[in-house]
Amino acid sequence: APIRVPDLSRCDLAVDESVGDTPPLTLRFNCCLPLPSASRILDFSFDKYPPIRQHVRRPAHTAKEDYIAKYNKAYQLMRALPDSDPRSLKVQADIHCAFCNGAYMQAGADGNVPLQVHFSWLFLPWHRWFLYFHERILGNLLGDPGFSLLYWNWDDQVNGGNMMPEMFARNGTALYDAKRNPDHLPPAIVRLSPANNSTDTSVVVNENLNAMYQSVVTASTAELFAGGAYRTGSDLTNSSVISATLGGSVENGVHNGIHYWTGNPAEQLLQDMGTFSTASRDPIFYAHHSNVDRLWDVWRFKLPGGPRKDHSDPDFLDTEFLFYDENANLVKVKVSDALDNAKLGVSYKTVRADDLWINYSP
Ligand code: C2O
Repeated sequence: APIRVPDLSRCDLAVDESVGDTPPLTLRFNCCLPLPSASRILDFSFDKYPPIRQHVRRPAHTAKEDYIAKYNKAYQLMRALPDSDPRSLKVQADIHCAFCNGAYMQAGADGNVPLQVHFSWLFLPWHRWFLYFHERILGNLLGDPGFSLLYWNWDDQVNGGNMMPEMFARNGTALYDAKRNPDHLPPAIVRLSPANNSTDTSVVVNENLNAMYQSVVTASTAELFAGGAYRTGSDLTNSSVISATLGGSVENGVHNGIHYWTGNPAEQLLQDMGTFSTASRDPIFYAHHSNVDRLWDVWRFKLPGGPRKDHSDPDFLDTEFLFYDENANLVKVKVSDALDNAKLGVSYKTVRADDLWINYSP
């Protein structure tokens, strides 16, 4: 059966553990989400959320100063909301923590099976919905419903996309996060594959193209690219073992690579970006995931050989998630409504640099 929405009134502490230490280092977080006073859950429909304005997401490294100022303003407003407000950056981060680190149990499963939105076919649609509402909240706070997220174009190895966008590295702004790797501020070049430790820039760039090719182009099926089946009862508690087999190539590959590269190695679990419980405290998370979401579209529609196919299993399509909208309402959404960005009013500015990894020959 498909995953249904969990009971938000039953919440446990979230547990985050280091991988590779014996015994693992364990941190516990309270990521429990605010319950709406009316305990009313809206059902998403395209009528209730008409795409009045198109959200055209552009590469962050090309943003002009006036847009950077606006982006910064949006996160200032979001950070200024009280922690109890579902639209605050605190709660936005807690949403990710809660559904990644076991705060809620799956509805309808026997026993206590934690809900986990990583390591499976849930990964891409869950994060698409997360960005959808996050972007609407920022636009609402700005009074600009057409506000669009930027994407961190880390796969672009030729025009300057492959470093932390400078706008996020300005200390003292709302886009800054102190818990990042201090050696990876611009102009350090990203390493999409953590195994890559050459100091020669041309080697790093070539490895990055290779990592993109492996994560996106070679993954010919939805199973390979987006991840395997996760249904009611699927238990990924032992996630470090299972992620390698069930998670898709884009998640396990370049997506994880950027998380690890950005997080601070002086922190116990590579906080903020390097671990689930804290990753979305960093505003760069949403730009990172906008690129992951864009790559889903590239994989679907733009690779040689014609369109590729998403999963069509009813358990995938009928999976339900909960998010807060721009009015702090709790909304129930379905995976089937997330498969077409055009319907959601979201598009990505095409960049030519994609061709370099699309046509890479390993
Ligand atoms: Cu929910 Cu990039 O991880």
